[in-house]
Amino acid sequence: MPMNPELHALQPYPFERLRQLFSDITANPEKPPIALSIGEPRHRPPEFVLQVLAENLDKLANYPATKGIVELRQSIAHWLEGRFGLPSVDPESQVLPVNGTREALFAFAQAMVARGPDVTVLCPNPFYQIYEGAALLAGAQPEFINCTHASGFLPDFDSVTDEQWRQCQLLYLCSPGNPTGAVIPLGTLQRLIKLAREHNFIIASDECYSELYFDEESPPPGLLQACEGIGNTDYCNCVVFHSLSKRSNLPGLRSGFVAGDADLLSGFLKYRTYHGCAMPLHHQLASTAAWSDECHVLENRQRYREKFSAVLDILDGHIEVAAPDAGFYLWPRTPVADTEFARQLYALEHVTVLPGRFLARDARGINPGENRVRIALVAELEQCTEAAHRIVHCLEALTQC
Ligand SMILES: Cc1ncc(COP(=O)(O)O)c(C=O)c1O
Repeated sequence: MPMNPELHALQPYPFERLRQLFSDITANPEKPPIALSIGEPRHRPPEFVLQVLAENLDKLANYPATKGIVELRQSIAHWLEGRFGLPSVDPESQVLPVNGTREALFAFAQAMVARGPDVTVLCPNPFYQIYEGAALLAGAQPEFINCTHASGFLPDFDSVTDEQWRQCQLLYLCSPGNPTGAVIPLGTLQRLIKLAREHNFIIASDECYSELYFDEESPPPGLLQACEGIGNTDYCNCVVFHSLSKRSNLPGLRSGFVAGDADLLSGFLKYRTYHGCAMPLHHQLASTAAWSDECHVLENRQRYREKFSAVLDILDGHIEVAAPDAGFYLWPRTPVADTEFARQLYALEHVTVLPGRFLARDARGINPGENRVRIALVAELEQCTEAAHRIVHCLEALTQC
């Protein structure tokens, strides 16, 4: 068949691997299911955003432009300035709306990577699976930077050689990280920006969990903020990806944006015009409203705080787990193999979590996801605490075996 051979390089998605892992076991039928495997926010979306959406259904009669309406780009620029202390973001050239960051993270590599021998894309390990697929289909080789307990669950950038930096065309960052929740400090971001300028690679910083943090006084820093701090005021070589999915509980709206280096965004816009992925107008108007309000985001954060506090209290002393820097995942170490733990938890307690090895690749002789599981605290508080109690039951059963 005349099919793109790179398609064969794509790995089965983690949820497909999870389905296979559970294919020969039956979940305890006496307990209602609790799914903590998928990172889909389940708090209610803000009512005022739904209202804007409903009031603008007539806009379906028009084709939207790929670049997006000026009101949306202005609201995003204003949000970026306020959130990251940026003096001035140009809504004309430095902001581009996208249909969620997933498609944009993927499409960005297709638009930016110049095909050729030995082209590499660097990404964290474990990682959001799109980075790898994007690299492979762009004709590049993904290379993984391990995030382990020893590196504070951040990519171990010191392990990257000069040769690797030289060959790299694109570096994906994820801060706060999925699944580890680790936040890359401002100083590290600045070091990476200098490396990007020196070796002329692009940094694509996935910041879609940036609004889910614990301390109102110290939100996670962002890549554009790091640029400003070292005088890279045009954000050369740097773009950030933000989303309304987690911040505003609007995963179905498929709304996010890319911002930063105007030259890169101009090329990306050209690519997207052909790709044909403009955001529907009523979604753009609803997104404008969502980026213009912080009250609902503050409430959202508070609800995650309550869940982390309650769940960690229950798990304390039973499993090796720490509160993440930010985001909505726990990343505990399992007392048995991660896949076995996930199977037992499903069979005995009807709770679904994701084995860490499904989110990571073997690199430098280890799989940094091994013997960890990703637990997404997305369900309501009562369900999360019920799940935590069931995890403790499962751990007790495992120690009796
Ligand atoms: C790290 C990371 N980046 C990007 C996304 C995509 O989010 P969306 O496409 O909803 O903006 C997700 C979704 O789970 C994610 O975990």
